Amino acid sequence: MSPLTHKQLIANTIEFVKSQLEGAEGGHDWWHIYRVWNNTKHIAQTEQVDQTVVELGALLHDIADSKFHNGDEEIGPATARKFLESQNTEPNIIEHVENIIRHISFKGGNHTQGFKSLELDVVQDADRLDAIGAIGIARTFNYGGHFGRALYDPNIKPNLNMSKEEYKKSSAPTLNHFYEKLLLLKDRMNTKTGREIANQRHEYMQGFLDQFYKEWEGLN
Ligand code: ADP
Ligand code: NI
Repeated sequence: MSPLTHKQLIANTIEFVKSQLEGAEGGHDWWHIYRVWNNTKHIAQTEQVDQTVVELGALLHDIADSKFHNGDEEIGPATARKFLESQNTEPNIIEHVENIIRHISFKGGNHTQGFKSLELDVVQDADRLDAIGAIGIARTFNYGGHFGRALYDPNIKPNLNMSKEEYKKSSAPTLNHFYEKLLLLKDRMNTKTGREIANQRHEYMQGFLDQFYKEWEGLN
């Protein structure tokens, strides 16, 4: 069988991802993938990266998130590999995409990353941008609602020193997630383009929080 063109491979991947994510939580559904894919293409314009690897990495990065699969961290990479093998994708591309899926995720403040590539940097920035700004706020409250969390509780303080395990099973109010993750992201961006966009989105979230606390106390 002759290899697919880039366009055919991407189209088939989109179809696969949409079917995999049917019924997913609103912050991790096809539209999250769509936004991360767009962010990826935008950032990739100013970086020397393999276009197929970054686009596949973006499209496949959340197909089987361990959070929604009993903590199984290998199910995502394995699902991607199986799909890409069915598309006759080159083995070195498959391996790179698997590594992107394995290493893209934020695991709390104390985690160090084991695999490095410019392609991972780009997709990671693209994913992080979707965690902040207006979309980031919407996704975060949706996630909290999905798991029945409180919006905010002034008596429960954010925990900035969580291990990977504690971070994953935290059931703290949603507002805490801003301090435990979202506000940390702008200083962790890998690319110049990513950093510039992150700075704008960060400022927007900061404004949201200021207003939130005022309204919480009935101030105007
Ligand atoms: P990553 O893919 O970087 O590991 P996650 O999948 O954990 O990130 O989180 C993606 C988004 O889901 C977050 O940006 C946030 O909007 C939401 N989310 C994840 N964990 C929480 C949480 N504990 N409270 C509220 N929102 C969360
Ligand atoms: Ni994601």
